[in-house]
Amino acid sequence: MSVHSDVKRVTVHTVQAMKNNKEKISMLTAYDYSLATIVDAAGVDIILVGDSASNVMAGHETTLPITLDQMIYHASSVVRAAKRSLIVVDLPFGSYQGNSRSALESSIRIMKESGGHAVKMEGGSEIKESIIRVLSAGIPVMGHLGLTPQSIYKFGTYTVRAKEEEEADKLVQDARLLEELGCFAIVVEKIPAKLAAKVAKAVKIPVIGIGAGSGVDGQVLVLHDMLGINKEFSPRFLRRYLNLFDEMKGAIEHYIEDVRSLDFPNEKEQY
Ligand code: KIV
Repeated sequence: MSVHSDVKRVTVHTVQAMKNNKEKISMLTAYDYSLATIVDAAGVDIILVGDSASNVMAGHETTLPITLDQMIYHASSVVRAAKRSLIVVDLPFGSYQGNSRSALESSIRIMKESGGHAVKMEGGSEIKESIIRVLSAGIPVMGHLGLTPQSIYKFGTYTVRAKEEEEADKLVQDARLLEELGCFAIVVEKIPAKLAAKVAKAVKIPVIGIGAGSGVDGQVLVLHDMLGINKEFSPRFLRRYLNLFDEMKGAIEHYIEDVRSLDFPNEKEQY
């Protein structure tokens, strides 16, 4: 319970209990104060301050350019908004892969300067030392396996991962390793639904899927994609709950018309 409010905060223990009780976990991204306020008020369990901010907020083609300072800026805005959700912050590309010391320094900066509650890192055995070191400082770590967008230039495409047996076996092994090391949850992105269900059974910690079917312990989507703010990205796994691009465009066109026709402001809208 926070000392500042009566709202009960979701913690890493809450999401573990949800898996134990077979309750599904909901997770969405947010990067700014206004939208995080809405996501939190709606009751989402986990807010991910994803490095997808690099695409969604800054218009970059990949997640690689976003910096640690920029992630801290986004995360601190979300932390000021969210009263209930557990806030997980992505460690950006280049801030943890080099060595475990840089992983720890980056994670400490995120925790101290943004007030987030946990960090997320992409990868399995390759980043074992970084995970161990960050966890040793008492910082909860969420893993991320399958399609890991920070490695896009290694994969070459954003297609479904781990369709072949060798990659699927490595993914299951990596999930077991992340659990063994002490990660509190794992995101699996764009892998076959059968494999994702197998991973969720193989580990006791929550497995949260994106493009990974329904046999996992929870789901995550990028907020701007599911609200239809972003029209260009239409993968098969995405369900659009709104078409905000067109709705917002319509409202703005209406405003422009009203300004041009002198309809706005009217008598009541002035002093
Ligand atoms: O950065 C992000 O939004 C993510 C999700 C796609 C899981 O990592």
